[in-house]
Amino acid sequence: MSWWMRAAAGVVAGGFGLAGAGLMAQVAAVPPATPPTAAEVQAAAKPTHDATWWKHAVVYEIYPRSFQDSNGDGVGDLNGITQRLDYLQKLGVDAIWIAPMFPSPQVDFGYDVSDYEAVDPQYGSLADMDRLIKEAQKRNIRICLDWVVNHTSDKHKWFEESASSRTNPKADWFVWNDGKPLDPNAPEYVKKAAHDGMMPPNNWESGFGGSAWEWVPARKQFYYHKFYIQQPDLNWRNPAVEKAMFDGMRFWMDRGVAGFRLDAVPTLFEDPQNRDEPVEAGTNQQGDPNLKGIYTDNLPEVHGVIRRMRQVVDSYPKTGFPGSRVLIGETYLPNTAELDQWYGGASQNELQLPMDMLIGFRGNQAKLNVPYLRRYLTEVETEVHGSQPLLVFDNHDNVRSHDRYGDGVHDAAIDRAIATMLLTSKATALMYYGEELGMVTTTPTRVEDVKDPIGITGWPKEKGRDGERTPMQWNASTDAGFSTAGKMWLPVPPDYTTVNVAGEEKDPASLLKWYEKLIALRRSVPALHDGGVVFVDTANPDVLSYVRTAPTGAKPVVVSMNLSAQPQTVKLDMSAAGVSGTKLRTLVTDVPALEKHDTTSDIELPPYGSLVAEVQ
Ligand code: NOJ
Repeated sequence: MSWWMRAAAGVVAGGFGLAGAGLMAQVAAVPPATPPTAAEVQAAAKPTHDATWWKHAVVYEIYPRSFQDSNGDGVGDLNGITQRLDYLQKLGVDAIWIAPMFPSPQVDFGYDVSDYEAVDPQYGSLADMDRLIKEAQKRNIRICLDWVVNHTSDKHKWFEESASSRTNPKADWFVWNDGKPLDPNAPEYVKKAAHDGMMPPNNWESGFGGSAWEWVPARKQFYYHKFYIQQPDLNWRNPAVEKAMFDGMRFWMDRGVAGFRLDAVPTLFEDPQNRDEPVEAGTNQQGDPNLKGIYTDNLPEVHGVIRRMRQVVDSYPKTGFPGSRVLIGETYLPNTAELDQWYGGASQNELQLPMDMLIGFRGNQAKLNVPYLRRYLTEVETEVHGSQPLLVFDNHDNVRSHDRYGDGVHDAAIDRAIATMLLTSKATALMYYGEELGMVTTTPTRVEDVKDPIGITGWPKEKGRDGERTPMQWNASTDAGFSTAGKMWLPVPPDYTTVNVAGEEKDPASLLKWYEKLIALRRSVPALHDGGVVFVDTANPDVLSYVRTAPTGAKPVVVSMNLSAQPQTVKLDMSAAGVSGTKLRTLVTDVPALEKHDTTSDIELPPYGSLVAEVQ
């Protein structure tokens, strides 16, 4: 298992298995949130101009290499994104998060940044970025950047300077250690990193395989790298590092950027005593022993940094465009209590939107297990001091949800059910390009075709992440309308002739149209936009149902999803949500027989069928 999947699976510190009795525990209904005033509802129902735009937002992740190539070199770019803004506006996207587009040697496809205040020429120029920000604003779309906080590239001038001697001005900007004399009994992967009779100070592993320490002859010291050797970890104990990274954030916010997705943010700090990680059973995808991660992941010191970072983003105006600047966290955490810490608990002074990975990624082990989903959706609504949940089912590091959740028989309906959950729950929704089309993971079949380095070193156990990073499928023409290059950085998946934007736009039953409808409802129906959430029919093991309670003057909405492979009939008692009405008006359904269904009883849902209806 790769490091992020291990984290998602709860194999990290404090993690727990899925099979515990708690999984099946029924969760009490949740009281409705304080309803906003009618004026607030009206203001917020317009696309995203209030200070809390991020609470209602659909955020769309773009992997820039793979979205749209505008200059025919086979790699996507910023001008390509600008060309496709009309598509994103039509879909109903409020913000896009662009995976790193900064100058980079591209060892980890941009997650090895060599300059935080510029654009990689492969993706365009600063002027292209300014134009993208401006054009996006015309369409009410905000731009968020991927802020790679844990490490730089080894080609960043900060690291080059730091590595040059033990006495240079940046000597303490990275995590350096003398190591210890070579011990023949040390684990093989630790001994492999030994030099000049010295070996790394401890058993810490890189998430991408091998020891996390690399020797630099000029300093006769090791540096720590949580990820690739080419990604040295910054030393966040040094205030100068914090200042430089915060200055970089200001640089982009001054240009109109609306916020940041913080990469690998729980791993900013390491144990100052350099203690060995406890070893757990088994080996990871790279063949190294599994370690617990208590000395290198989620250390309490990180919260001080995040609180200060929040002050930096909060110093920008909250009104106008882009309004409040947001901090989104890549937070693979073992449980909801830990997630709450990342919001800042009751003080709510850390991240506005740490990602909930317990539902979208860890939940996949339970497939669409209704008690599991109900439990974690309830927890993230009720156990984070009223902070705003952020749901996500897809990203550039994990096999696409279509493949993780699909059963090979009901895949299309399962895709729709996931979209329904993502877009009708109270959470902010984070989606990944191509998710709206049902794009599938297309993993290379030969090691010589692999681009992601972990797929090369880990082959065949770990085939890397190329499969979920293939070019966006725009149309059925050659190269799916992604590029005119003839040879793309990753091949277009073979199903592009049937799974593509142009075809799905014309098909009222397509997944793309389903997404468009749900996003439009989420914006225009007050209960979906602003209502609270109360789970109903909570003993049902197969059908997930909840009421989005009504803000003043509006009607509640009920959502019911059959997440099983058998037909289910439900009768909804919504009294737990304070709703006594029994007349329904369908807003959207993928079950033709329910289009005109108007009562809360005899709701017949086929496998993975969904109903979203207003209560009259
Ligand atoms: C998490 C990113 O999502 C992943 O793609 C990257 O390889 C690691 N962080 C290291 O930056």
